[in-house]
Amino acid sequence: MGERVAAASRVKEYRFGGQRDEDEPEHLNPELVVFIPEVLDPQYGMYVWPCAVVLAQYVWFHRRLVSSKRILELGAGVSLPGIVAAKCDAEVILSDNAEFPQCLDNCRRSCQMNNLSGVHIIGVTWGRVSPCLLALPPVDIILASDVFFEPEDFEDILSTVYYLMRKNPHAQLWTTYQVRSADWSIEGLLYKWEMDSFCVPLQSFEANKEQLAGSSLPGRHTIEMMVIATKKAVQLET
Ligand SMILES: C[S@@+](CC[C@H](N)C(=O)[O-])C[C@H]1O[C@@H](n2cnc3c(N)ncnc32)[C@H](O)[C@@H]1O
Repeated sequence: MGERVAAASRVKEYRFGGQRDEDEPEHLNPELVVFIPEVLDPQYGMYVWPCAVVLAQYVWFHRRLVSSKRILELGAGVSLPGIVAAKCDAEVILSDNAEFPQCLDNCRRSCQMNNLSGVHIIGVTWGRVSPCLLALPPVDIILASDVFFEPEDFEDILSTVYYLMRKNPHAQLWTTYQVRSADWSIEGLLYKWEMDSFCVPLQSFEANKEQLAGSSLPGRHTIEMMVIATKKAVQLET
């Protein structure tokens, strides 16, 4: 009675890069292998979502740019993109809902499994101003994979991003989302929160494949990659 059964878990391997001709030197096409522990539980933040593989591929493709950047992952779950960023020498903070300690444990386990001791893990609940959020240093890149799935959360996510961009107006949000409904849009909210976005074609970072990083997760899902920044930052870039 009262006994809790530990959820079953498994570890998945993801391989980025590394496909090269026999005579090609390794430094020209290095390989990164990361291990992600997953919990067999239907809750959202317990396993890798297809969007995470695509965002992790984007991070890997831009590894030189990412190296030494300050990065925060929102709604990280098991944190594949953030782990890849940390492996590419970024300063990474992983976050998930402060009310889901199990997801924060998942972030911790992913770090341990990849020998990453310098990654900070904090609770950040979208739309809520908490001491943890207030104490955050400025970040350069915000990662968020498959967080735009419940329209009622969209504004909370963007208000948190807006707060982070006030601290660093040059920060960018790199986000992937799965097209689940043609009716969902964040355009109006981006306008309200003074942000702009541009879509990044998957083929531009070699992610237009059903199989990515040795995983068949992307499959035939329609996944989009988007970069969001303050209107001013986007105008400066274009
Ligand atoms: C669909 S899962 C995606 C997980 C991970 N980013 C991935 O792509 O594999 C959504 C994530 O958002 C987190 N989340 C849900 N509601 C949240 C909230 N209000 N504040 C912060 N995180 C939240 C969940 O705990 C979960 O980790």
